[in-house]
Amino acid sequence: MKKILNTLIVGVALITLAACGGTNETATSGTASKTGNQLEAIKEKGEIVVGTSADFAPFEFHAMIDGKDTVVGADIDMMNEIGKELGVNVKVTDMDFDAILAALEQGQVDVAVAGISATEERKQSFDFSENYFVPEQKILVKKDSVAELNSVDSLDGKKVGAQKGSIQETVVKDQLTDSQLVSLPKVPNLIVELQQGSIDALVLESAVADSYAAQNDDIVVADVELESSDDDAYAIVLPKGSTELQEVLNEQIKAMQENGQLDEFLQKNTDLANENASK
Ligand code: ARG
Repeated sequence: MKKILNTLIVGVALITLAACGGTNETATSGTASKTGNQLEAIKEKGEIVVGTSADFAPFEFHAMIDGKDTVVGADIDMMNEIGKELGVNVKVTDMDFDAILAALEQGQVDVAVAGISATEERKQSFDFSENYFVPEQKILVKKDSVAELNSVDSLDGKKVGAQKGSIQETVVKDQLTDSQLVSLPKVPNLIVELQQGSIDALVLESAVADSYAAQNDDIVVADVELESSDDDAYAIVLPKGSTELQEVLNEQIKAMQENGQLDEFLQKNTDLANENASK
C-alpha cells in the first residue's frame, strides 16, 4: 500500500512538474513572438538600452569624462559603434552583475553587454551573439603574498573572492575545491577586500585582472594556472528569439574584429582605466 502511495505521490509530482514546464514554454514562445521584431522595435524607438555592470575595466567602468562621471569601456565603445550602424541612441543602464540577466528577461534592457560568458547554462534561457573576446581565468593576490600563493594547492583553506553571479564563483568551487568562496556583488569591493587582507585571493579574467593589477601597485596576477573553457568567451546576450537583431550584431562584431576596432577599443580603454586610476 505504502509503495502504491509513493508511486502516486511521485506521479502527481511529475505531472505538476510537466505542467510547470508547459507554462514556461508558453512564456518563452510569448517572449519570442514579442521580440521577433526586436530589431524593428529598437529602430522604431530610436534607442537601444544596454544593461551592464560598470565594475569591470577595461570592458566597462566609471571614469570622469569632462568632469562628469561616465560609464566607459571596450564594451561600451562596441555598442556605440553598433548603435551608429543601426542609427539609434545607446542608453547604458548600470547595475549589479547578478541583476543583469533578470533585467533582460523582464524587458528592462534590450541587450546585456558586460563581458558576459556565453555558457551552456545561460544559453538555455537566452540567445547570444558570436563571441567577441576569449578570456583566461586568473588569480589576483597581494604583492607581498605572491611568493607564497603560487599554486592551486597553496590556496587550500584560503579565502578566495569572486563576483556574485559570475562564472568565477564556479571556478572557485570546481578548481579551488579546498578554498573558501567569498562572493561580493562588485569587483572594486573585492579589490578592497584583497588589499585589506579579508580575502587572500580573487578570481578574475585576463584583461580585467591585468587592468586592476596595473591600477593598484599592491596587487599582482599570481603564478597559478587555472583551467579556462570554451564557455568562458564573451558575447552579447539577447532575449530568446531575437533572430534579426542577433544577425545584425553578428555582422557588426565580425566587421569590428576584422578591421581591428575591437582590439583598438580594448587598448584605448586599458589606457583610460590606468590614467583614471592614477588621477
Ligand atoms: N565573464 C564572467 C561571467 O560572465 C564575469 C563577467 C563580469 N562582468 C562584469 N561586468 N562585472 O560570469
